[in-house]
Amino acid sequence: MNDDRGFGIYVHWPFCRAKCPYCDFNSHVREAIDQRRWRDALLTELTHYAEQTAGRTVTSLFFGGGTPSLMEPETTAAVIETVRRHWATAPDFEITLEANPTSVEIGRFRGFRDAGVNRVSIGVQALDDAMLKFLGRQHSAGEAIQALEIGRATFPRLSFDLIYARPGQTLDAWQDELAAALDLADRHISLYQLTIEPGTAFEQRVARGDFQTLPEEEQATLFDWTAARLDHAGLPAYEISNHARPGEESRHNLTYWRYGDYAGIGPGAHGRLTRGSEKLATATERKPESWLEMVERDGHGILEEERLGYEEQSDELLLMGLRLKEGVDLARWQQLSGRDPDPAREEFLLEHGFIERLGNSRLRCTPSGMLILDSVVADLAC
Ligand SMILES: C[S@@+](CC[C@H](N)C(=O)[O-])C[C@H]1O[C@@H](n2cnc3c(N)ncnc32)[C@H](O)[C@@H]1O
Ligand code: SF4
Repeated sequence: MNDDRGFGIYVHWPFCRAKCPYCDFNSHVREAIDQRRWRDALLTELTHYAEQTAGRTVTSLFFGGGTPSLMEPETTAAVIETVRRHWATAPDFEITLEANPTSVEIGRFRGFRDAGVNRVSIGVQALDDAMLKFLGRQHSAGEAIQALEIGRATFPRLSFDLIYARPGQTLDAWQDELAAALDLADRHISLYQLTIEPGTAFEQRVARGDFQTLPEEEQATLFDWTAARLDHAGLPAYEISNHARPGEESRHNLTYWRYGDYAGIGPGAHGRLTRGSEKLATATERKPESWLEMVERDGHGILEEERLGYEEQSDELLLMGLRLKEGVDLARWQQLSGRDPDPAREEFLLEHGFIERLGNSRLRCTPSGMLILDSVVADLAC
């Protein structure tokens, strides 16, 4: 089965040099990593998924983390080679690797490109050394700029991430930082508002009163201004936090947001796979060492394989699709949920300018709806 939403493969590398205080991703710091053992285990789990998804065409492969730029390029090459051996790949097969901009990782860029990576996504986060220190980053602004320059010269496509709406950040300061960032940008940029995630060091520091998050109205001001500035720069938002020149969107992430299928390889990776009329939600063991042992013993680290009912699928379709500027395909939502949106709720959201219809076929969030996305989804889903 192939569809226009694509079929992606996500490979999770769970290790980082240090844990950033805001981050709740499945990332761990370890003294030593047996790269050979990890490579073999990733290839084993890939082969397991290849058997489950035979006949499909892979449209994208994404090395995420953690910090996949700490992988040896040989490991990346072996994964890419194994994907190509097991599946057909699309002519415009996108292979992205997330990279942190330290000098060691910049030194590996050529190795990743030679392995087949054709898109890099660099975690710049800020262009100010004091702020990078506050965010617990291991790089300086100078290194980030160097990584962007070398990244652009090395890879066909490049994106980078910034975190804004940081404590005390004024609109003026963000305007200056974003202007500098746009001078360095290629055709894609991800701009995330700082979120204080449960269980992180930042959550404890906010609870202790070490710093305060930016008030919501100020966050909203920064968000609105950012959207307008990026429109003007020719990189409009195609998703709540992602901006690209038309045609330069992340194909891999579009597969998630369009609720396509993807296999998740590595510790703590999630997947969604269509099998016949069913959609399966898969999740692997999160703890790196336990995942490794499971794969070596059983050939995969899958802990859960849950069949999603139509209602769950229709909720997920909304949750993902309303993040996108193109919105959700109403016919598909109706097919899954077995109903039309509740007229009273829809009317309320339309009247308050939180959602809009695109003809009869699509529904999307307006920019103000994006700011309260979770409530909009909750309203339409129930
Ligand atoms: C998988 S993460 C990190 C990738 C890579 N290890 C790095 O740090 O550059 C992807 C992106 O999510 C964003 N991010 C992570 N936690 C965040 C938070 N609490 N608030 C806002 N953005 C966050 C960061 O911009 C980060 O680059
Ligand atoms: S933000 Fe990136 S480098 Fe920092 S802990 Fe999370 S995954 Fe690791």
